[in-house]
Amino acid sequence: MPKSQTDSSLFVTQLYRARVARMDNAALAATAEAMAREDMAGRRWCRDHGYKGYTSYASLDDLPMRASIFEDLAKALLPHARIFARSLDWDMGGKALTLDSLWVNVMEKGSAHSGHIHPHSVISGTYYVQVPEGAAAIRFEDPRLPMMMAAPAKKLRAGRQNQTFVTVNPTPGTVLLWESYLRHEVLPNTSREKRISISFNYAMR
Ligand SMILES: [Fe+2]
Repeated sequence: MPKSQTDSSLFVTQLYRARVARMDNAALAATAEAMAREDMAGRRWCRDHGYKGYTSYASLDDLPMRASIFEDLAKALLPHARIFARSLDWDMGGKALTLDSLWVNVMEKGSAHSGHIHPHSVISGTYYVQVPEGAAAIRFEDPRLPMMMAAPAKKLRAGRQNQTFVTVNPTPGTVLLWESYLRHEVLPNTSREKRISISFNYAMR
């Protein structure tokens, strides 16, 4: 039987994963929960859109200016985004990564977020603040999926690099980064406790 001739992986989709040092997750969780109580416009948006829990995505766009803890987080995230951009070999053309938006997600039991991409940005990501046992995982989709007309299904035990959907369940203090075109979803939260995360987008300006 011929030996495998595969000697390279082309068009790789990178997922960046790292620990963010010295973030006060208890304070971040308390701030997020306070926002979930007090941001009436955000609460209304969540109710109207069937979001079980709270997101500031549609109501507040200046978190780093509102609370210094978000400013601290933004400062801590930027070096990670720069490392990721370097690993992607981007020609930045004199532009810099700029935090375009940052928002809080407080997911209650049964809460989910269906598949989506993050338009108008280059790097997107999530920092995980509170991830209780049974909390929702994030699932990434192979960006070539729309082109795979007759591609066979993958084996249940397919290697991670060959899976069409990849599920990740990060621990608190973890940041995940991906290119903003990468479709992802948050699966239903089965935990009674709240899953708290902070998502963000970087643009290049
Ligand atoms: Fe997202």
